[in-house]
Amino acid sequence: MDLRDYDDEKRAAAQAAVGEVAHGMMVGLGTGSTVAFAITALGRRCREGLSVRVVATSLRTEHAAKASGIEVLDFSTVSHVDLAIDGVDQIDPRLCAIKGAGGAMLREKIVAQAAARMIAICDASKHVSRLPPGPLPVEILPFAQAFVTNQIECLGATANLRGIEAGKPYRTDQDNFVLDCTAPAGFDLEAFAIHLQAIPGIMGHGFFANEIDAVYLAEGDRVRLLERPAPA
Ligand code: A5P
Repeated sequence: MDLRDYDDEKRAAAQAAVGEVAHGMMVGLGTGSTVAFAITALGRRCREGLSVRVVATSLRTEHAAKASGIEVLDFSTVSHVDLAIDGVDQIDPRLCAIKGAGGAMLREKIVAQAAARMIAICDASKHVSRLPPGPLPVEILPFAQAFVTNQIECLGATANLRGIEAGKPYRTDQDNFVLDCTAPAGFDLEAFAIHLQAIPGIMGHGFFANEIDAVYLAEGDRVRLLERPAPA
């Protein structure tokens, strides 16, 4: 078991990313423990005189940003974001990522696609040579739970309703359910995600194929900036 404490790496990656924020920007803030360090760093810069507005990808992030004195706008009124900053669950050298352990992947993907630049922030444990076949978080309409589960299983994948083992399904900020899915043998995650997109009742999933432009990756005392490789 990995007992290493990654908080120093998360903080370092987050602080490096917040260094990209410039005066007047509209900033998208992701969700999770790494983003929490970014909110702290951005709040500090705002208190020092930086003027920015942010949109939040979860109620949790919205509350934390407001508590840090950052102006938060309702994303329903915003069409364009200058810079999005978000954590990942796993990211590979192509900057494809799995997100959604915290359940916010639907809003995170919308904000990422609205952003001129999206940067991921992570500790060394998240950087993998190849993404695993899952679990891939998939947000679904509760109305369609049985139908969507069956459709996914017909693909040869597994789908576990998040929270059911504790007796109560987990609910997203949109009051939807999350299925944690594993791709069928022989599929890569990208192919699996394409199949998922065609199933009605699925609101979104946590596979980020091309949204991430760069990642601040902290490894020990060092933070590396990796930009998305140019298409071949
Ligand atoms: C939230 O739903 C996720 O996509 C997070 O961005 C991701 O799980 C990373 O979270 P941590 O920074 O807490 O690991």
